[in-house]
Amino acid sequence: MPRILIAGCGYIGQAAADLFHAAGWAVEGWTRSTESAARLSAKPYPVRGVDVSRRAQVAECAKTFDAVINCASSSGGDAEMYRQVYLDGARNLLEMFPGSKLLFTSSTSVYAQRDGSWVTEESETEPARETSRVLLETEGLVLDRRGIVARLAGIYGPGRSALLNKFLAGTATIDPENDRFVNQVHRDDIAAALFLLLSREAEGTEIYNVVDDQPILQSECYRWLAQRLNRPLPPLGKSKQQRKRGDSNKRVSNAKLRRLGWTPRYPAFADAMEKSILPNLSGLDVKC
Ligand SMILES: NC(=O)c1ccc[n+]([C@@H]2O[C@H](COP(=O)([O-])OP(=O)(O)OC[C@H]3O[C@@H](n4cnc5c(N)ncnc54)[C@H](OP(=O)(O)O)[C@@H]3O)[C@@H](O)[C@H]2O)c1
Repeated sequence: MPRILIAGCGYIGQAAADLFHAAGWAVEGWTRSTESAARLSAKPYPVRGVDVSRRAQVAECAKTFDAVINCASSSGGDAEMYRQVYLDGARNLLEMFPGSKLLFTSSTSVYAQRDGSWVTEESETEPARETSRVLLETEGLVLDRRGIVARLAGIYGPGRSALLNKFLAGTATIDPENDRFVNQVHRDDIAAALFLLLSREAEGTEIYNVVDDQPILQSECYRWLAQRLNRPLPPLGKSKQQRKRGDSNKRVSNAKLRRLGWTPRYPAFADAMEKSILPNLSGLDVKC
């Protein structure tokens, strides 16, 4: 039975852990806090509080795993926080699990293109933001050790959709002069991608974009929601909020992952909203 550690058993980590467990893998999950681990005590696999950024804690809990997914999240924060969670975390996991295949969940925020062009894994990555540069540095560490990098688009799924939250909270605006493509991917399609990537023999450069089939203009998302929920369109105006993805405007391609056989269950925003997100409207959080 293959063994896997999910370091960061949060929104994505739990979906991945459940999937690997259902497929017969021996799973162990880690969260930063013991409180989060305790909340997951009913899971059919052990979840422990281990902070990946603390070398001694990781060393204490090191055992043998065939694969390790590093999907701990800084939950925002500044570059220093990113360095601790992503860079130090990856360094500690690589050091303590030298025989395991490490998969790091990075982000499509490493692409800084602003012209709405399509980007692939071969495209330039020159992010303006320090936080995204830390992700790139972490990717470098992982790739040097023949690990896998999954660059996730904006995550959404049951209980989580940044655009829907803004729409419902009345804080959404449509900025016709600064409209941009949003790239998103459903939680369950991410879990399926991580499973696929770790269930096969690795080959070539191991960077994969994990994103649905259809980047969509932000204004179109809001138009679709307004029509579907029978509510007024958000007002026209300039968005004042700082965006995690900076001022980038790009369409991220999933062709490389699709060539491996990954087929998203929710290929487009409307599919995911209709089949998975609107039916689970209660309990939406405000994360993106
Ligand atoms: N959100 C997005 O749209 C987006 C886009 C691209 C990529 N990503 C990446 O996707 C991954 C998964 O994100 P998510 O949304 O599933 O995160 P999440 O729901 O916020 O969960 C994060 C998990 O990581 C744990 N964690 C945080 N710091 C840790 C540490 N130092 N040591 C061990 N565990 C730690 C948390 O434990 P506690 O509950 O105890 O804090 C929690 O279980 C992250 O790598 C994130 O950067 C996210």
